Amino acid sequence: MPFLTNVSLSSDAPEESDEYPLGIPAIRDLRESMLRFHPKCTFLVGENGSGKSTLLEGIADRWGYSREGGSRTRNLYAQELWSDLGPMLYLNRKPGCNPMDGFFLRAESFFNFATMLDEFEEDAYTADGYFSYGGKSLHAQSHGESFLTLFKMRFHGDGVYILDEPEAALSPQRQLAFLVRMNDLIKDNSQFIIATHSPILLGYPEATIYELDEFGIKEIGYEESQPYQITSRFLKDRERMLDYLLNDDDEEDL
Ligand SMILES: Nc1ncnc2c1ncn2[C@@H]1O[C@H](COP(=O)(O)OP(=O)(O)O)[C@@H](O)[C@H]1O
Ligand SMILES: [Mg+2]
Repeated sequence: MPFLTNVSLSSDAPEESDEYPLGIPAIRDLRESMLRFHPKCTFLVGENGSGKSTLLEGIADRWGYSREGGSRTRNLYAQELWSDLGPMLYLNRKPGCNPMDGFFLRAESFFNFATMLDEFEEDAYTADGYFSYGGKSLHAQSHGESFLTLFKMRFHGDGVYILDEPEAALSPQRQLAFLVRMNDLIKDNSQFIIATHSPILLGYPEATIYELDEFGIKEIGYEESQPYQITSRFLKDRERMLDYLLNDDDEEDL
């Protein structure tokens, strides 16, 4: 069941702006056409700098504002770092649907796990039992392990989860484990919005993929996505690709 149905740019947003964040083509595009969320999982793909994090943060920000106070909103942290996009977005949700759980994880958080753990320690909701999970302190677990633990223990279902490049901490095998857990949470009435470069995560079957680029934002198929295309070309013909990359002066049109 979807909680969030679509997002678009408010007509109040300044028309002509070359400045961040309205200067980003994908963000500007939301004025023309709304982005419809898949009820289960929506992926954002695109080159570095195409606006994925900006859009995710705007959505999380807007969604946070529209929620009543309480411990859950505290997870939408680091708001002081955010752009002013959030208030310029229309974020529509399905009437009468109120998620019980929610989380927004910035890409940086996956690299800065200690800070995140400190925040959870202060969160009464996660403090109990969380740190002794598996008989092993999270501090003693590897980056990827602790992220998966978080994902298993802190995400309860019936929620909206907004994740920026969650694959950063995960081995390919753990990305598969992530998909399994994500699927369980989705069966448990959750909705995901994920920015990713991972051809594994993008493979989740019940999802919509949006690509952000210099022209704007559009829906694409899995096989059209760059993470899929480049990985698949590399795996199918590694030698030729490497030869081209490493021995050819012109690598512009890879
Ligand atoms: N706080 C900011 N102020 C000005 N420009 C920013 C800021 N954050 C990001 N940008 C710029 O906005 C563009 C989109 O960034 P970002 O949303 O982080 O892209 P992505 O997540 O797709 O890599 C980039 O050109 C980036 O340099
Ligand atoms: Mg980003």
